[in-house]
Amino acid sequence: MNVNHAIRYRKSVRKFLNKPVPRQLIEQVLDTSRWAPSGGNCQPWRVEVVTGKALDRVSSSILSAREQGRKPLPDLEYYPEAWTSPYRERRFNCGIALYSAMGIKRGDAQARQEAWLQNYRFFNASSAMFFFMPQSLGIGFLMDMGIFIQTVALAAMEAGLATCIQASLAEYPDIVRDILQVSDEFMLVCGMSIGYEDIEADVNRFRTSRAELEEFVSWHK
Ligand SMILES: Cc1cc2nc3c(=O)[nH]c(=O)nc-3n(C[C@H](O)[C@H](O)[C@H](O)COP(=O)(O)O)c2cc1C
Repeated sequence: MNVNHAIRYRKSVRKFLNKPVPRQLIEQVLDTSRWAPSGGNCQPWRVEVVTGKALDRVSSSILSAREQGRKPLPDLEYYPEAWTSPYRERRFNCGIALYSAMGIKRGDAQARQEAWLQNYRFFNASSAMFFFMPQSLGIGFLMDMGIFIQTVALAAMEAGLATCIQASLAEYPDIVRDILQVSDEFMLVCGMSIGYEDIEADVNRFRTSRAELEEFVSWHK
């Protein structure tokens, strides 16, 4: 697999097979990913790999917090309070297309909600990663985190694994820190489900589009 292929064909997978990923494979992915660049080579990432009972605990604790009506309190406010164009439309269209690929009708709020809850079940994946960085480092280091996380997604592809990067998994950082015994000196940036793609699932046939170069590139000479 070359880099072009990996970048072009990586996609978010939202239904995984119930098949465990050998630890050695995840280690291999992270061993490659640690070569991602970072400012001053600070390597701010800290990764918690979660499987088995620990994964079930994280899942059930987040789901029960939601059931109790606890408001998400992420360390990092990822989404803006007010959306502007064209991001509002892109996000809206992405959601509509995703739910329609899942056979969910536009007005079916309950089915949408149920589909969304799959986030907290890691879309049935047997493993997940939680990406932390030290709170003491400034937001600039979120760039390093993003580069690292995409590197993990691409290295996972090469290893025959699929991923879904998930900001939703960072909505209750205290729960995750508590279960995984991570100090609150670390900020939870996001999570990622990782495992074997269920290639039969309709949701995994959904592909997103991208803006053309003219929409976001300006040339100067
Ligand atoms: C930082 C980040 C957070 C995301 N959070 C979620 C999430 O919580 N749940 C989800 O289903 N997808 C999530 N996604 C996946 C995006 O919806 C997806 O990357 C985008 O629609 C493009 O589709 P693709 O990944 O299939 O190319 C996230 C992606 C990124 C990069």
